[in-house]
Amino acid sequence: RQKWVSPNEEQYVATTAGRANLRELLERRAYEVWISEIMLQQTRVATVISYWQSWTSRWPTIQALAAASPDDVLSAWKGLGYYSRATRIHQAAQAIVADPELKGLLPATAQDLEKKVAGVGRYTAGAISSIVFGRAEAILDGNVSRVLSRQLALYANPKSKMTTDLLWDAAQKLVEGVAGFSKSDDERAVSEVPGLWNQALMELGSTVCTPIPNCGGCPIRSTCRAYAEGEQVAVDRGLLS
Ligand code: ADE
Repeated sequence: RQKWVSPNEEQYVATTAGRANLRELLERRAYEVWISEIMLQQTRVATVISYWQSWTSRWPTIQALAAASPDDVLSAWKGLGYYSRATRIHQAAQAIVADPELKGLLPATAQDLEKKVAGVGRYTAGAISSIVFGRAEAILDGNVSRVLSRQLALYANPKSKMTTDLLWDAAQKLVEGVAGFSKSDDERAVSEVPGLWNQALMELGSTVCTPIPNCGGCPIRSTCRAYAEGEQVAVDRGLLS
């Protein structure tokens, strides 16, 4: 399988020096996506944009962030809330730089991201691995959970572990299905599909398949079992919980 690179990276893969540049480019993007996904966990996209832009121009790499002072990091986060997020990212950056195995680099697989980077959970690991490194790894957030619960007409308590396990499994099968390869395939199996798919699901859940849904504007209502049953709101309230 060909290694996936976005169009503006193609120039880099032709030479040995280019391949080193590509790795650097992907690492920089991994850092940027990591920061954005942590910011987006409790804050809306419209608010996050300017914070993310000033954060990444001030500290463009993990190394730069690791060298920052705790006070500067906290003041850059001021206004976003949940300040422990900032402290955790900062400490994780220092740990990544100090770790002799990681050598300042974020790993590419979700399994390694979750295992080796403090504070990176299943969601963030799936985001970085799929969006940046093109792996077939699921992402499940509140929005995606709602989309999938409705597509499947789950009628299950969204907060129960049984439900979230089932939804993670469903999300994983879907991303592997659209990508055409599984996360356990040859580990060089990469494509832009998993990241685009995951982000499309998140976007659909935050703009169309909202708690009060706009089914008239939904591109996947023809496969939606909750829509067919007229139970879009009941299915994610967990009537079977
Ligand atoms: N919400 C949080 N992260 C997102 C992403 N990468 N795409 C769309 N919505 C998101």
